[in-house]
Amino acid sequence: MSHDLYLAAKAAMAKAYAPYSKFPVGAAIRTEDGRIFAGANIEVASFPEGWCAETTALGHYIMGGGGRIVEIAVIAERMAKCTPCGGCRQRLAEFAGPEAKLYLCDETGVAETVTMGDMLPYGFRGDTWT
Ligand code: THU
Repeated sequence: MSHDLYLAAKAAMAKAYAPYSKFPVGAAIRTEDGRIFAGANIEVASFPEGWCAETTALGHYIMGGGGRIVEIAVIAERMAKCTPCGGCRQRLAEFAGPEAKLYLCDETGVAETVTMGDMLPYGFRGDTWT
């Protein structure tokens, strides 16, 4: 991937509002036409009401017009190769196919590349019920 997706995730992480966990996370999504949508985690004093960086990025992606997701980068200040939580895997899979690449980052760049299919095998799908 080009470095710009990593840099977008890192810049988003700097905007995290994580006063409770002190665990800032940034995520960035790239669509096939090259647009990038980024987000950070946002916490709330009533802890279960906070949400993840990936979810913020998805909100920006939808408001930016959506499209086919080809790449996703995730970075956390205090954890190398932070993976999306279970709920965010399901949210990302709503819009990103199993072939979409997921970059697990550290403070220097991409540390490991996996796919959405690797991250959410046997995920629940809304397009197969009868
Ligand atoms: N978090 C994310 O934003 N993304 C992840 O992939 C894992 C966890 C956030 C949620 C919460 O604000 C903090 O990290 C600690 O769980």
